[in-house]
Amino acid sequence: MSVSKKVFIKTYGCQMNVYDSARMADVLAPLGFSRTEEPEGAELVILNTCHIREKAAEKVYSELGRFKRLKRAREAQGEPFMIAVGGCVAQAEGAALVARAPFVDIVFGPQTYHRLPEMLVRANEGETVVDTEFPLEEKFDHLPEEREAPGVVAFLTVQEGCDRFCTFCVVPYTRGAESSRPVAAIEAEARRLAAQGARELVLLGQNVNAYHGPGENGSPWTLARLIERLSAIEGIARIRYTTSHPRDMTEDLIAAHGTCAKLMPYLHLPVQSGSDRVLARMNRRHRAEQYLRIVERLRRARPDIALASDFIVGFPGETEADFEATLELVRAVGYAQAYSFKYSPRPGTPAAEMKDAVPEALKAERLERLQALLREQQRSFNRTCVGASVEVLFERAGRRRGQAQGRSPHMQAVHVASRMSLVGALRPVRLVGAGPHGLAGELLAPSDARASA
Ligand code: 5AD
Ligand code: SF4
Repeated sequence: MSVSKKVFIKTYGCQMNVYDSARMADVLAPLGFSRTEEPEGAELVILNTCHIREKAAEKVYSELGRFKRLKRAREAQGEPFMIAVGGCVAQAEGAALVARAPFVDIVFGPQTYHRLPEMLVRANEGETVVDTEFPLEEKFDHLPEEREAPGVVAFLTVQEGCDRFCTFCVVPYTRGAESSRPVAAIEAEARRLAAQGARELVLLGQNVNAYHGPGENGSPWTLARLIERLSAIEGIARIRYTTSHPRDMTEDLIAAHGTCAKLMPYLHLPVQSGSDRVLARMNRRHRAEQYLRIVERLRRARPDIALASDFIVGFPGETEADFEATLELVRAVGYAQAYSFKYSPRPGTPAAEMKDAVPEALKAERLERLQALLREQQRSFNRTCVGASVEVLFERAGRRRGQAQGRSPHMQAVHVASRMSLVGALRPVRLVGAGPHGLAGELLAPSDARASA
């Protein structure tokens, strides 16, 4: 095959998808494909879709309409142009996708993209390929090594899928059963990333703290043990992990927040609701009180830990009292960061069959009330950090000239004035102001550094 073909990959949704898109590019590289930001110049367009957000499938279909026109125009000139749809919407829609958008050449799920080269060959022969089977073999075993150099912050998938079956969620259906990568493979990848300049590792998984990959002698390791192993890698200064389920917040992982200096004091621990009745209907398998106890234990292990969460408002049957229980839980925890959503049914999930839907207007009103509280908490958290000296890992030039941007241990964006590039540097910074786009800071001489806020 010729070299210098272009693939345009559009990524929707979470960090897991950003990572998967980079792996798709890696799988296609031996066929002569390099990535482009311009669909117009590409021979292959891949939409790497996400099913979490509202009307995800509809958005994909409307985006496909745009690429259909491009395909027609290119084909009229005798130029090849293929459209592939991957990710969770592709997994959920399967053959229905080609029925509704027959100009699509390839449909593949998150578990099958290592087979993209062979799908392309079949598509080239005129076949419409739908490959959304969960393979029996380990997908992880079939991935090539990374080609694109990582940034300062490198994402590393350690587990995929989920067995928790929250009643609102498509992940167990689209990403399949929980599976964890072996420790040795993760460690090798982490060392490679560090050698290429990564200073922070973000361990990814849909239910990352359920990690139980095999260690050297084949027996399962916990996430805490994996983190401890990775923290010994020279060059890696910081480790984070996302996203976690409260039920999988084990004692050793909580303890690791107190003992592992490289594990950052920030945790995204979605609670979804503060009402036990709603939590039960969501099949979350924990009560509000248990979540609060976990937060308490985390704070005992690491007093400055900042918490983030996801919330769903207007879950079927949610009453005003249920919603107020959510507000109460938010007040009890005090979040540094949060994502909140109106419930929307996902076809095929148990909650989609529940009868007592909350009217849209009420969902919107509750979302606004919750977000006002969460915004206020975030602002007040940022304000309390002003005056503190923290270590900032610099990731890029700032938005304005002469600025550098990085993150505090608590995940806050921090900007400082600097004429030199600081990318990759970990430097002490005094936080001097809090604004809507993060915190303003001033570089300190290393000797001025104090413990973080
Ligand atoms: N409706 C609304 N929000 C949802 N999420 C997942 N499924 C749904 C749904 N059906 C939210 C949850 C999850 C986040 C990634 O997306 O809060 O934690
Ligand atoms: Fe979905 Fe997370 Fe629940 Fe798993 S734990 S079903 S990924 S919301």
